[in-house]
Amino acid sequence: MPVRLSMTVNGKPISADVEPRTLLVDFIRDALRLTGTHIGCDTAQCGACTIHMNGAAVKCCNMLAVQAQGSTILTIEGLAKADGSMHPMQAAFRDHHGLQCGYCTPGMVMSVIDLLKRHPNPSEELIRAELDGNLCRCTGYHNIVKAVQAASKA
Ligand code: FES
Ligand code: FES
Repeated sequence: MPVRLSMTVNGKPISADVEPRTLLVDFIRDALRLTGTHIGCDTAQCGACTIHMNGAAVKCCNMLAVQAQGSTILTIEGLAKADGSMHPMQAAFRDHHGLQCGYCTPGMVMSVIDLLKRHPNPSEELIRAELDGNLCRCTGYHNIVKAVQAASKA
């Protein structure tokens, strides 16, 4: 039987009826049509589905939508300002060519914003360690690391 779900997503209150078995990533993509949150593995390995819940990065492919009841969610679509200007981390990825195919990029960006909240001035070693849960199949991570370093100084 569907349950009523309410949460705040990218600053807006939303409510919807969902089946209890619905994954949070499917709710975000299919019900809310916020398709910037990607599904790469569906098994919590690749990080393409990373969002922020109550201010912390989480992989939403291994959570149920009902676990987000009452929470505050931020997805990649919520990062840009109202005038369309990019979040500093998005700008740093663009400026340092931190993406190629871009499939992993939303999850990377959400993860490293969380990283900088916890460690405002991370070493390269720490950035690489923190990116352990975000897989990019087309780069050597070098430009992604450069982008994070640049954003930490922005
Ligand atoms: S789709 Fe969630 S970690 Fe890969
Ligand atoms: S840019 Fe292609 S998987 Fe990361």
